Amino acid sequence: MLVFTNKNKIGAHISSLKKEGNKIGFVPTMGALHQGHLSLIKEGLLNNSVMVVSIFVNPTQFDNVTDLDKYPRTLEADIKLLETVSENIVVYAPSVDDIYEGDTRAQSFNFDGLEFEMEGRFRKGHFDGVGTIVKRLFEIVKPDNAYFGEKDFQQLAIIRKLVEKHQLPVIVVGCEIHREANGLAMSSRNVRLKPEYSLSAPFIYKTLKSAQEKFGTKSANIITEWVQKQFAKHDLLELEYFIIADVDTLKTVKRKNKNKTYRAFIAVYAGDIRLIDNIALN
Ligand code: PAF
Repeated sequence: MLVFTNKNKIGAHISSLKKEGNKIGFVPTMGALHQGHLSLIKEGLLNNSVMVVSIFVNPTQFDNVTDLDKYPRTLEADIKLLETVSENIVVYAPSVDDIYEGDTRAQSFNFDGLEFEMEGRFRKGHFDGVGTIVKRLFEIVKPDNAYFGEKDFQQLAIIRKLVEKHQLPVIVVGCEIHREANGLAMSSRNVRLKPEYSLSAPFIYKTLKSAQEKFGTKSANIITEWVQKQFAKHDLLELEYFIIADVDTLKTVKRKNKNKTYRAFIAVYAGDIRLIDNIALN
């Protein structure tokens, strides 16, 4: 498998692949790959002849140094896993300098307010970091199609906005959340869960499913209060937020409108690991 660490070298390789008529799909990741990432890559392989996977823990999207330091880095294992999927995968695993050229700062973006909701409220500057890295990666990889998981639904909405506002020549494809058999949304952070938290974390999806069931008959406020009570009673999991939001604006719904589409979003601490998830409601 070809693994590039230099943007000019991978750029030249991709140019020649394109000249040969290859369609380039792209899955940006921060590594610690799991079946969720592989499902994005497999989806991409259906419509692209080559898939590029970037593996880069992007410092500018972390608002917490400990979280950045502790983020799992497993490049060798990641490459081995990718080798089991296809020969038509190219890896870009750059250093911080290759991407940021000595100036590790995020650019400021205006995502029409999407960036101030949910994750944006609790992780200051997070989406400027995401916007900065994804825009740079798109400029380096020049993919035809790029694949993102709906687990980070707000991120997906922001990347669509980035592409629209900056007129980037790439099609953004959103892919369904991949879950463990117990319902827990797959995440690179799951490997850091202590055993007792691994056992209790499926409670997050179970609660989202109950919220989904209640959505037909109960108001968003009543469901939100019910979810807050469930977590207040829980010994191990600490709720950071639960909100029911309009999928287009990501703003918390006050009164349901039957012409709108809603989703429930949740962030929970399992010890020092922060987990997020979401579910479609209608
Ligand atoms: O979702 C992620 O893993 C990251 O936010 C991304 C898109 C790779 C940017 O660093």
